[in-house]
Amino acid sequence: MPRELRDVVFVDGVRTPFGKAGSMYAETRADDLVVNCIRELLRRHPELPPDRIDDVAIAATTQTGDQGLTIGRTAALLAGLPRTVPGYAIDRMCAGAMTAVTTVASGIAFGAYDVAVAGGVEHMGHHPMGAGVDPNPRFVSERLVDESSLVMGATAENLHDRFPEITRERADAYAVLSQDRVQQAYADGAIQESLVPVATRSVELGWGLATADEPPRPGTTVTALAQLKTPFRAHGRVTAGNAAGLNDGATACLVAAEEVATELGLPIAMRLVSFAFAGVDPAVMGVGPIPSTEKALGKAGLTIDDIGAVEINEAFAVQVLAFLDHFGIAADDRRVNPYGGAIALGHPLASSGVRLMIQLARTFREHPDVRYGLTTMCIGLGMGGTVIWENPRSSAADLSDSQAAIASGASDNSVKGAAK
Ligand SMILES: CC(C)(COP(=O)(O)OP(=O)(O)OC[C@H]1O[C@@H](n2cnc3c(N)ncnc32)[C@H](O)[C@@H]1OP(=O)(O)O)[C@@H](O)C(=O)NCCC(=O)NCCS
Repeated sequence: MPRELRDVVFVDGVRTPFGKAGSMYAETRADDLVVNCIRELLRRHPELPPDRIDDVAIAATTQTGDQGLTIGRTAALLAGLPRTVPGYAIDRMCAGAMTAVTTVASGIAFGAYDVAVAGGVEHMGHHPMGAGVDPNPRFVSERLVDESSLVMGATAENLHDRFPEITRERADAYAVLSQDRVQQAYADGAIQESLVPVATRSVELGWGLATADEPPRPGTTVTALAQLKTPFRAHGRVTAGNAAGLNDGATACLVAAEEVATELGLPIAMRLVSFAFAGVDPAVMGVGPIPSTEKALGKAGLTIDDIGAVEINEAFAVQVLAFLDHFGIAADDRRVNPYGGAIALGHPLASSGVRLMIQLARTFREHPDVRYGLTTMCIGLGMGGTVIWENPRSSAADLSDSQAAIASGASDNSVKGAAK
């Protein structure tokens, strides 16, 4: 059967405020965090009939308890989507939500779906990292991977060993930059518009409402960071200050065929250009974004010089710096993580990929001069993932008049959503 691939677009994304693991969401279920996100997407987009959603792909790294039972399906039912809308669960650890997006995008391009919900959740308070895992003893007995490969902080120390020019001082300075940028982004109202308020409960404290991220530490200084312990190695370089923390949170977004978005009047925030995942030595998983980005650029016929905006997940400062050094980008380049990153905001593993996309979409909206941007992240067990996007507002982008009109309405939509 002859077939044509369809263009795929990122319509809109939302997320819960991120919490410290087991803190403000201690008594909130992980699946309810996802439900909040799905319901908010529907509230923001009344132009989307819920029965037009063809699938719901939700990622979680630990798929048991309140993150189990095929969370894409349970969250769809709990969110009140018609029972005819199916759903499923996805896992690629930190890149879960990113993989949810690329997977539904592939289905959309192929013609299997018109519109899909993709996202992720991690309640690291309910599901501590590594709890319940049972790695095959052959990994170590046959030296398939170095023993440090299963402890992400240890892999970050390995990365410092590989790149001795990335010192603790550089890592700490980068961490301060991330904190400062988040503080500025909050002051500018750049983050709040994507947040879904979440009702929280606590037997001790009663009901509450989470409206802002809990992890940021405004006013962080390099002097304070220099005092912190290095929990992953004696006299190491990775600390609680230059690493992402342990967090709870969820994200979700709408992905659609461009022609269907136009038909329904859905905004077009970003157009998918290419994506790639790559494998590296698990002992230095943090270098993953380098080959995945090279692969994604190659598939798109682009070079790093074509990229005007980068959202890179900050699992660890060292891993961001390794990426930036490789591509010859300065650590404080405004094209990279302009609203800060995971070191300050937190990194609820499987949810973070869509947070990156939400922030890139905002950069596209604010900078029509930027044509291409990328979202990238390192992934446990030695992987990297990269998705390259095109800005529909860019004058160089090929957009029909009707699509351009919808695209320019997108910012109004988001602002309206933020005000409510
Ligand atoms: C690094 C890690 C072990 C720290 O955990 P933790 O000890 O529970 O972290 P805390 O938030 O309690 O911070 C530890 C200390 O650093 C201090 N600290 C943290 N960030 C700071 C900052 N920005 N400025 C000043 N002090 C800071 C805390 O106040 C705390 O001090 P205290 O011991 O005097 O109370 C944990 O966050 C971790 O494992 N991160 C990596 C997560 C990960 O691997 N994700 C997957 C990536 S692939």
